[in-house]
Amino acid sequence: MCGIIGVIGTSHSASLILEGLKRLEYRGYDSAGIATLDKNTINRQRSAGKISNLEKHLETNPLTGLIGIGHTRWATHGPANEENAHPHSDGQVAVVHNGIIENFQKLKDELSDCNFESTTDSEVIVHLISYYLDRGDNLIDACRKMKARLKGSFALAVISLKENDTVIGICQGSPLAVGYGNGEMYLGSDSLALLPMTSKVSYLSDGDFCILKSGSVQFFNSENKNVKREIKELSIDASSVSKGSFDHFMMKEIHEQPQVIRDTLNALIDSSSRTSDLSQLNIDINDLSKITIVGCGSAYYAGLVSKYWFEEYAKIPVEVDIGSEFRYRNHPLPDKGLAIFISQSGETIDTLYPLRLCKEKGQYILSIVNSPESTIARESDSVIKTLAGPEIGVASTKAFTTQMVTLAVLALFIARKRNHLSEKKEQELVSALLELPEKISEILNAQDSINKVASQIKDTQNVLYLGRGHNYPIALEGALKLKEISYIHAEAYASGEMKHGPIALIDSHLPIVFIAPSDTLFSKSLTNIEQVSARGGRVIALTDEAGSEKLNGLHEYLIKLPKAHEFVHPILYSLPVQLLAYYTAVLKGTDIDQPKNLAKSVTVE
Ligand code: M6R
Repeated sequence: MCGIIGVIGTSHSASLILEGLKRLEYRGYDSAGIATLDKNTINRQRSAGKISNLEKHLETNPLTGLIGIGHTRWATHGPANEENAHPHSDGQVAVVHNGIIENFQKLKDELSDCNFESTTDSEVIVHLISYYLDRGDNLIDACRKMKARLKGSFALAVISLKENDTVIGICQGSPLAVGYGNGEMYLGSDSLALLPMTSKVSYLSDGDFCILKSGSVQFFNSENKNVKREIKELSIDASSVSKGSFDHFMMKEIHEQPQVIRDTLNALIDSSSRTSDLSQLNIDINDLSKITIVGCGSAYYAGLVSKYWFEEYAKIPVEVDIGSEFRYRNHPLPDKGLAIFISQSGETIDTLYPLRLCKEKGQYILSIVNSPESTIARESDSVIKTLAGPEIGVASTKAFTTQMVTLAVLALFIARKRNHLSEKKEQELVSALLELPEKISEILNAQDSINKVASQIKDTQNVLYLGRGHNYPIALEGALKLKEISYIHAEAYASGEMKHGPIALIDSHLPIVFIAPSDTLFSKSLTNIEQVSARGGRVIALTDEAGSEKLNGLHEYLIKLPKAHEFVHPILYSLPVQLLAYYTAVLKGTDIDQPKNLAKSVTVE
């Protein structure tokens, strides 16, 4: 959730750390700080709020030194003020921490003689290391002993006056990567942060401990054995992590959807036969008894959409659950079950823990991730990569649509292997998928009507989203997007549920967004639209030409979309709900890429 970075071996350590932190800001932006080691002193600068505050602060209070660590925080324990900003230090040791120390209070009680300056769980790490150093341990042993005392999840970077040529990295349940420079070495919560400095990285495995010196690194596994970790060459271009000509990453990422959907499809489809090609999956598909799907937020909604596809085409029972709920239910998981985990970051702890649970229960683990080096990918039996490229805006857009595209192809692949789908029908459905990039471009070229609706809802307190069948999850996604970036309260229901309660909310103020393409359920959606209209409600209809002709003026606003095959409606109708949330947020002047209280990667429970 927080971002951490370490640099060793350059007199520019503080400026490199600052640059790295800017790239990690998506992980949290409640406060930021840097500590460097210079001439046997630890110097620190910290600021509440975004990294730009720290940057300003550093202009007048620069930090020097060949070694340094930095942090951008998403607050868990204690308010987002300067005292609670990392690095924490007692003058002898400085630490940055990503994760949660579950037994911090017990350790704090034991260390009651120490002077605690913050209300965080993390500061206890500093005092524990110093406790062992003061009793004669060297830094490495002190860190090992400290690590053995911690319960919870943590990625740490540690520096100390006792060994002023070393940065220690520790990874347990939270990710950490080592970068190789020219004599310099780096540590970062992810490889994106290291990209401007190096394209060569190693990922720590869970439980690893690493010792960085100028120009070298040693890795130790959870059993303290000296181990090697593969050096990988990053293929991401550093410019893909910039906004380009767009005002926000979110808008840039919305516009990338035609291309990334095309890329994702090209990797999963045999273009000559127009059929799915997932032969790399080593699953006995005919023997599958059930599919369990787990994700959080938008990833969960992508899973919900796919339930309709798996059931319709592959005729297989599917259960979809939210990661944070799944783990605390007692599931009768069948033999030969397939468990699918969906995640952009591949680090969401609420998704990772159910993955481990399903593994213990003998399920085949397939992950659909956008970060192929992530923990979820590494712990899976098979991985399908969404080729969305780095997604920086906190609101998921291109990751969400590429997740749905991937699940759609998987559903067709399983359907054909189980003999429930003819090649001809598969070709028809694959063709519909292949037409998506063009249809999405059409929507992107005609955004005026969406912007107009945004100006009508920007001052409202509440918005209701309704959808039916496989478009119901898109109503949920629309409400999530609006809440997340415009801070307007929004709720979503399956359209038919409206009369069972939410209908009481209808008045001349409440905008109701209907996701209503002219599909097999359109007549039912129309009935719901009539029910709203009859009560003086404000209907915002998202539909196509055929749907709009049947609306008979029941709507207040219309957002017209290109006609498309019913199979791909959830993917296509994601675009207007993303854009509606975006334009509303622009009009409200909120921080679109970094909405308050949120973070891109949620690595705490
Ligand atoms: O990285 P993940 O896909 O596992 O993240 C899951 C959710 O945290 C994420 O989709 C979140 O809901 C987004 N901010 C939604 O826009």
